[in-house]
Amino acid sequence: MTKKFLLFALTFFCVEGFMELGAQSDGRNKILVAYFSESGNTRVVAQVIESAVGADIFEIKTVQTYPKEYNPLITLAQKEQRENARPALSTRVGNMDSYDVIFVGYPNWWGTMPMALFTFLEQYDFAGKTIIPFCTHNGSRLGSSVNDLKKLIPKAAVLEGLAIRGGRSGSFELGGQRERDAVQKEVDAWLRRLGMVN
Ligand SMILES: Cc1cc2nc3c(=O)[nH]c(=O)nc-3n(C[C@H](O)[C@H](O)[C@H](O)COP(=O)(O)O)c2cc1C
Repeated sequence: MTKKFLLFALTFFCVEGFMELGAQSDGRNKILVAYFSESGNTRVVAQVIESAVGADIFEIKTVQTYPKEYNPLITLAQKEQRENARPALSTRVGNMDSYDVIFVGYPNWWGTMPMALFTFLEQYDFAGKTIIPFCTHNGSRLGSSVNDLKKLIPKAAVLEGLAIRGGRSGSFELGGQRERDAVQKEVDAWLRRLGMVN
């Protein structure tokens, strides 16, 4: 192994695999936005929340990437759900203990969270933390995801979730400025209801 490769591998591991995110020293609640997004809609919502509340942001990624084409993607996602699979994740929050509030975002897949979220929620101890779910969807809103999430982390306080219309299945619909502005409005109203912003 060359020195160059070692350096590359180390950099890649730090950036992609194991995120030790910034600490807040002023005593305020430390907030993380953790999200999974296949086609980009949930990422947009995550970024809007990140800047609205001054959070760290973390992308949940799977070791195996999902098919880009719609039919193979929905077939695989359904198979994972039927098998109650726990897809392996390639990213990990190194300092989860230091967060008090964690926004957890995902697309609605077959009425609930993608199975990667089940893996994520089982990987850490969320006891005593505040969890705030949000999703993008194509009509089913949060579906059964919040109930499913609560079952996985019974010792966390789970607040009101937000469902944002992401559009047609598997397509990136929230990329334009008009769509982002609309997301911003919905997110701001929700965060005010939760008392997260003034
Ligand atoms: C595998 C799969 C299953 C889906 N199942 C549902 C569903 O049950 N209900 C729904 O409203 N939308 C469903 N959708 C649509 C997605 O929730 C929507 O497109 C979402 O915005 C995608 O988010 P993303 O761009 O962050 O990946 C599904 C999409 C995919 C790819």
